Amino acid sequence: MGQRSYQEMVEEQKKGMPPVTTGDLTGKTVMITGANSGIGFEAAKHFATMNPTRLIVVCRSVEKAQDSIAKIEADTGYKGAEPMALELSSFRSVSEFVTQVNKTLDRLDIIVENAAISTNYEYIATDDGWESMLQVNSLGPALHTILLLPIISNTAKQHSVVPRIVVVSSETIFMANIGSDAIAAANTLQTLSSKDYCTPEIMRARYVHSKILNIMLVNKLAALLPQNIVPVALNPGFCVSGLRRKSRGEDAERFKKMEDEFAYTSEEGSRQIIYAAIGGKDEELRGKFTSYSQVLEVSDWMLSEEGKKAEDKTWNEMLEIFGKLDERVPQIVAEYLKV
Ligand SMILES: NC(=O)c1ccc[n+]([C@@H]2O[C@H](COP(=O)([O-])OP(=O)(O)OC[C@H]3O[C@@H](n4cnc5c(N)ncnc54)[C@H](OP(=O)(O)O)[C@@H]3O)[C@@H](O)[C@H]2O)c1
Repeated sequence: MGQRSYQEMVEEQKKGMPPVTTGDLTGKTVMITGANSGIGFEAAKHFATMNPTRLIVVCRSVEKAQDSIAKIEADTGYKGAEPMALELSSFRSVSEFVTQVNKTLDRLDIIVENAAISTNYEYIATDDGWESMLQVNSLGPALHTILLLPIISNTAKQHSVVPRIVVVSSETIFMANIGSDAIAAANTLQTLSSKDYCTPEIMRARYVHSKILNIMLVNKLAALLPQNIVPVALNPGFCVSGLRRKSRGEDAERFKKMEDEFAYTSEEGSRQIIYAAIGGKDEELRGKFTSYSQVLEVSDWMLSEEGKKAEDKTWNEMLEIFGKLDERVPQIVAEYLKV
């Protein structure tokens, strides 16, 4: 299954990361989540060097965002960064965040959905009752993006620009797929989230599920949004960052060995965010998965009938769930997400 073996990934890593794409973001507003650590922090610094009119540094608290901004300013001299707080394990936080955005931002040219967690295969339920990697990595960013569609769409129309919706996925999408039993279940997302379903074996693949759902989100947005908005998913490569901080024992040792052998720095990985955000051609990147500054075909399973079914089903279920959580969602779907 999938077109990329582990060995192919290692060989690609060892080739070295392409240089960072550069550009001029004057007049533009850029937003990035998870901007205090790892790949997101480094991407925020790259954006800062391109002089956006506003750079919205999104972290789990305003204090973390302020700390990150102080470092961005010290390293780049850029003064246009603004802090915002977003807790992706809470749907309410996502909704409140967008209410705040609608009061304070007048445009949004680039949104980078970067924040994510890995729980070291542990089942942890959020306060909203969802398995945490599913909510933080997939459902939270999907709701966030959908609620931001009006401002993104208005930016495209009013300024005749092509905003990008950039979703950070992963090379791991080639390593597993979403189980047939969950896809066949009456409610796939609730099945995936349920404690009974989440055996240790399922939890070992859960991070992968969450990153597959990121690409499925991009596919759906590309199918339903007008051409003047470009959703794109990306693989930053295997990087040293805070992501695997919960790894223990044999897993920690294996990751350490991989890091020593071929990992990128977070700065190198962040170049792939910048490529997806400002590089390439809009028409070539729209709805695609990029890796090493080029389009990479997703896994055979994602392209299969079952993969497509999973994509349709999880999308419809998400819209139903989100519609009950935030009354803006059905309006947005009707107005902005047309076939
Ligand atoms: N590192 C890799 O090898 C690799 C490979 C492929 C893909 N990726 C992807 O790259 C992206 C960035 O990860 P990273 O490697 O840079 O890891 P990281 O250093 O752990 O950064 C993750 C960021 O997400 C934030 N975050 C975590 N939980 C959150 C929540 N509930 N609400 C809001 N923000 C939350 C973190 O905030 P706190 O600091 O407050 O926890 C942090 O800013 C992720 O999407 C990851 O899946 C990484």
